[in-house]
Amino acid sequence: MVAILAGSFDPLTNGHLDLIARGSRIADRLIIAILRNESKSPLFSVEERAEMIREAVAAWPNVEVDNFEGLLVDFAKRRGATMLIRGLRGVSDYEYEREMALMNRRLEPSIDTVFLLADAQQSFVSSKLVKEVFRLGGSIDGLVPASVAERLQRSAAR
Ligand code: PNS
Repeated sequence: MVAILAGSFDPLTNGHLDLIARGSRIADRLIIAILRNESKSPLFSVEERAEMIREAVAAWPNVEVDNFEGLLVDFAKRRGATMLIRGLRGVSDYEYEREMALMNRRLEPSIDTVFLLADAQQSFVSSKLVKEVFRLGGSIDGLVPASVAERLQRSAAR
């Protein structure tokens, strides 16, 4: 069974990594799908994000990285996936996730969304807050993989 974990991953956090580790145990093959959306003015290019994820998931042989634009369910169908994995950090994620899951199921009933409760240690972590804390000089130790922290340092220098 092929599953997809889609997102912006700008950048990958340890919260994402926890979902990837758990998703890779549920699915035979897990595809990390990076949304190509330049209108969000990402900090890292899709290629940089893909590289960071590949470095972080090297230990899991059934995890691969791809990117997509357009509808997620169309990409999922093209890749033969039947499951979309999403993380739920708390009630604030729930309403948005509920709408997306129902819309995706309406668009493509053969693909279902499975929710994983985010790890308690990571349930306050988001890419947006990581970028903000880093930009303002706070510590992001333990919130992102080492390779992501290094790239954030390099991005600050450019
Ligand atoms: O980084 P995020 O916010 O967790 O990712 C959201 C994502 C990429 C899963 C969502 O925006 C998405 O699926 N976009 C693709 C366009 C699409 O399929 N829209 C309809 C979803 S109901």
